[in-house]
Amino acid sequence: MQHISIDTIKTWERFYRANFINCLSGFKSASLIGTVNEDGQPNLAVFSSIVHLGSDPALIGFINRPLAAAPHTLSNIKATGAYTINHIHPSFVNKAHQSSAKYPVEINEFEAVSLEAQYINSIKAPFVKESFIKYALELSEIVPIKQNNTFLVIGYVTDILMDASLIEEDGFIAIENAGTMTCVGVDAYYKTERTARFGYAKPIVNKESK
Ligand SMILES: Cc1cc2nc3c(=O)[nH]c(=O)nc-3n(C[C@H](O)[C@H](O)[C@H](O)COP(=O)(O)O)c2cc1C
Repeated sequence: MQHISIDTIKTWERFYRANFINCLSGFKSASLIGTVNEDGQPNLAVFSSIVHLGSDPALIGFINRPLAAAPHTLSNIKATGAYTINHIHPSFVNKAHQSSAKYPVEINEFEAVSLEAQYINSIKAPFVKESFIKYALELSEIVPIKQNNTFLVIGYVTDILMDASLIEEDGFIAIENAGTMTCVGVDAYYKTERTARFGYAKPIVNKESK
């Protein structure tokens, strides 16, 4: 097994190093975040740093890169307080990936990548119509991360759209049956397959040692 130290990594070419480090944390929840600006102009971009923060209240976070690198999603969320997160399916993964391109602010990425914006009730932010699991959030808090000028964006889940057949008896969502994809690094996407479900683990007490 090769031992690679951070001193070695620092000598690597910038893009090679970024690819390598981006892969290290493993499979990530690639999803599309849909927003609108104050004038209702839609925006769509792919994000993979999406993380469960708590169940009650239902809180989900994601990391937004520095504003200069990825400005539109974050400024729309600041302006409206609303956004949607939409799982990615193989049938539109190429379009989802294309939404990461740096389109000018006046471009509607739904149209640019040929995905359909879907509006439900009074929710301001658009869902991705083609997505099989999607949910809307209200902004709770934006936490700046000083170390690298990124932001942890935290939202309350308010509404969820999915087929009822995906929800198992105990509330577990069989997201693999919806074809939800996962990703590694910044450009590789994977299909998923469940290996096992084990239930809530409890300590195993060795009776003989009692
Ligand atoms: C697979 C993948 C994952 C990404 N994950 C993130 C992420 O977690 N946070 C982020 O800020 N940008 C991420 N990006 C980059 C954004 O999609 C890209 O910067 C986009 O242009 C941001 O658009 P916006 O300015 O409309 O928000 C990712 C790109 C790809 C291809």
